[in-house]
Order: sequence, then C-alpha cells, then structure tokens
Amino acid sequence: MSCNIRPETMARISSREQAMAFIDEQVAEIRAQVGDKKVLLALSGGVDSSVVAALLIKAIGRKLICVHVNHGLMRKGESEQVIEIFQNQLDANLIYIDATDRFLDLLADVADPEKKRKIIGGEFIKVFNEQAAKLDDIEFLAQGTIYPDILESDGVKAHHNVGGLPKDMKLSLVEPVKLLFKDEVRVVGEALGLPHSMVHRQPFPGPGLGVRCLGAITRDRLHALREADAILREEFDKNGLAGKVWQYFIAVPDMKSVGVKDSKRYEGWPAIIRAINTKDAMTATVEEVPYAVLHHITNRITNEVEGINRVLFDLTPKPVGTIEWE
Ligand code: XMP
Repeated sequence: MSCNIRPETMARISSREQAMAFIDEQVAEIRAQVGDKKVLLALSGGVDSSVVAALLIKAIGRKLICVHVNHGLMRKGESEQVIEIFQNQLDANLIYIDATDRFLDLLADVADPEKKRKIIGGEFIKVFNEQAAKLDDIEFLAQGTIYPDILESDGVKAHHNVGGLPKDMKLSLVEPVKLLFKDEVRVVGEALGLPHSMVHRQPFPGPGLGVRCLGAITRDRLHALREADAILREEFDKNGLAGKVWQYFIAVPDMKSVGVKDSKRYEGWPAIIRAINTKDAMTATVEEVPYAVLHHITNRITNEVEGINRVLFDLTPKPVGTIEWE
C-alpha cells in the first residue's frame, strides 16, 4: 500500500477480525520496508501516533524510537499515561523529554493567539530536532498520517499545528495508517490492545492547553486550568457523558472577578465549560448537560481548584462561536 489513494475496493475496517488482518499485513510491510534499520516517531499520545507506535513496536520492537515531548501544555496525566503504556507496558524504546520550562519561558507575556501557536510549533521542532541529532543510524520517520490528512492537506501531516516535522531530516516516511479513517484507526488501536481511554481520546489541539489558557499563559493559571479540566473529565466520565459528548473542556480567560471565600474577598478566574457535539468540527451544537451535574462540577471546581472562583457554561453553538476559545 504505497500509494496515497485509497482503492475503492478497500473494505472499511470495522471488526476486530478485519483489524487483525490489517495489522498482520502492515507488520509484514513495515518489516519489508524498514529491514533492521531504526525508525523515529514523535509520540504525542494522541490516537494516531499511539496506534502507529503500537503497530511499529509489534513489527520492529525497540528499533522504533519514540520521542514524547511534554511541552507543559498537556492535560493532567497525559504524559504519565504515555510513559505507563509505552515504556512500562509495551517495553517501547521511549525518550521522554520534559520541555515544560523551555515552552513556558518562551510563552511568558505572549498574549497573541497566533504568536503563541507559532512559538509552540517552532519550539516543538527545535526540541525534536535536537533529540534526533543525538541519535545515530536513524533512517526512517514514522508518522500518524491518516486518510483525512491526505484529503485535506498536501499529504504531510501538519502535526496538529505544532508546526509540522522538519522537512530537511532526509528520512524516509513510514505511514502505516495513512489510508485509514479515524474510526478505523480506533478499531486497529483496540485490536492492538491499547487502552480504551487512549483509543477514544477526544480531539485535543496540538498546542494543547495553550489555546485554552487565554492571553499570556502564567503557570498558576495554567495549573488551575489543568486541575479544573481534570475535574470536568472525571465528572463527565462518572455521569456517562464522556462517551456521548464529542468534545468537552475548560477554558480560563485572563481576567479576574471578585468573589468571597471563608468570609473573605477572593479574587479569582472564571472556568468556562465547553461541551459540544459535531460530526466534522465545522459546525457544532451545545450538549444539554444536566443542571445537577453542572452544579456538582461547579461545586468541586470552586472548592478544589486554587484561583478559580466562578464556573460558567458556554451556550454558544458553532457558528457563531468556534469550538475553542483561543
Ligand atoms: P475551532 O475552534 O476552530 O476548532 O472551532 C475546531 C476543532 O479543531 C480543534 N483544533 C485543533 N486541532 N490542532 C488540532 O489538531 C490544532 O491546532 C487545533 N486547534 C483547534 C478543536 O479542538 C476543535 O475540535
């Protein structure tokens, strides 16, 4: 399957049996393509790169070198999950780089959303390049390109706007899921034994919480956002909303209002809940989250998260609002 066009005769992968057959075929193809050479992969922990990592580990084991760059803008527990699954459970050859300080130092005082995105994308490439330069004998670069990426772009995964990977690396590409749609990648991921929470992860922008910590990012507000977001996800899980709602998250704007806590004036940021449903992210409707759940989440966030003193629910469909706040 070296071409970039999905044959009309290719059946959709919807069952475990079909996924297993695909996996066997790809393992053989990867081995034939790569031989005993080493392959490099930027492993974000998203669905596509995780499935590609698991496929390559099955095919070539520790000759796959996964690099996970933590830009400090991950959701709570995400980098830890990548390490737990890939390093501890799958015995991956994983290089974990905690680049939090590099990213947050560069982002200090930068309020413009486009500038923030550029900084995050540019720094990601720098960190990845620096790591790649330290490795010998790498001849291949694996990518989690999927079919919609090919249909929508020039065929090279934009890597979630974290800038795209360096074009001058002179590495041959290994893209085992490039003819699959997202739902098929998920079926393959399940068949490979990846955890449900990873395979069914909701979409998450490459610049991560950077687009939800509005204005100039500060460590304390980013921390509050991450904690509030973790509470939202936990409560959506517990209340059966996680599998039902397409995307849900917290945004925290760079503004404070007066509140009261323990009979004292308490200035804090508002946490804004966004919970939307969509098919293609071009338009979106707002999930009617039960009031009891909203009250409970509000209670938890305002009590448990330092710095947040109000919780708001965004009722705006797309259009006129975008999904992200940014
Ligand atoms: P908007 O805010 O434009 O978002 O309505 C549409 C969808 O795109 C996601 N999004 C991104 N996804 N890289 C991505 O892979 C990004 O940089 C990015 N920015 C926004 C957003 O979460 C929503 O699902």
